[in-house]
Amino acid sequence: MKNIVILISGRGSNMQAIVDAAIPGAHIAAVIANRADAPGLAWASERGIATRTVDHKAYDSREAFDTALAAVIDQFSPHLVVLAGFMRILTADFTRHYAGRMLNIHPSLLPAFTGLHTHRRAIEAGCKLAGCTVHFVTAELDHGPIVMQAAVPILNEDTEDSLSARVLREEHRLYPEAVRAFVEDRLRIQDLRVFVAE
Ligand code: GAR
Repeated sequence: MKNIVILISGRGSNMQAIVDAAIPGAHIAAVIANRADAPGLAWASERGIATRTVDHKAYDSREAFDTALAAVIDQFSPHLVVLAGFMRILTADFTRHYAGRMLNIHPSLLPAFTGLHTHRRAIEAGCKLAGCTVHFVTAELDHGPIVMQAAVPILNEDTEDSLSARVLREEHRLYPEAVRAFVEDRLRIQDLRVFVAE
C-alpha cells in the first residue's frame, strides 16, 4: 500500500477526484490545508480521512512554514505528496525533501502560462488550445518534469469561467490517472522527461 498525503488550499475538487477514484494500492493517509476554512477539509473529514491544518499565517517566514508543514506531512510516512490546488510557493529545501515523490496539477499546458490567471491569459493571447498539466514538483515554480497533459479547445465565446470549467473536467480525469501511474510504479524520470509505462 502506498501512502498519499494531499495538500489543498480551497475547495479540493481535484482531491475529491483522487479520493473517489479509489486507486488500488493507494491509501489516502491525510489531507492537509494551509487554511482551516478550506472547504475540502470538511469533505475529507466526513469520509473518515485524517485532516490537518498548518496555517501559513502562523509562521513568519516561508522556511518556518515549510519546516512545520513537512513535519506534519512526514507523520503520515508518505510515498507520494499530491498538491491539489495548494496555493503556496514552496522553498527549495521543501521541494528537495520530496524530490521524485511530489506531484502538482497546473491549469495550463506547461511550459506556457506558469503562475496565476492561466485561463484569462490563454484567452487574451488568442490561444486555440488550453489544458492542464500534472508534473513533478521542483524548486522552480511550475517547471518540474511533465507527467501527463490534457488539452481542450478554446472557443470564440469562452470566458475565463467557461474555459476554467472545461479544463477542470479534464483535471479530474487526468490527476487520478497520473496518481495511479505513480502508485503502479509506471513513471520513470530521465533527463527531465517522464516516461509513462503502459
Ligand atoms: C485547479 O484548477 C488547479 O489546477 C489549480 O487550482 C485549482 C484548484 O481547484 N492550481 C493552481 O493554479 C496551482 N498553481 P480544486 O481546489 O477544486 O482542486
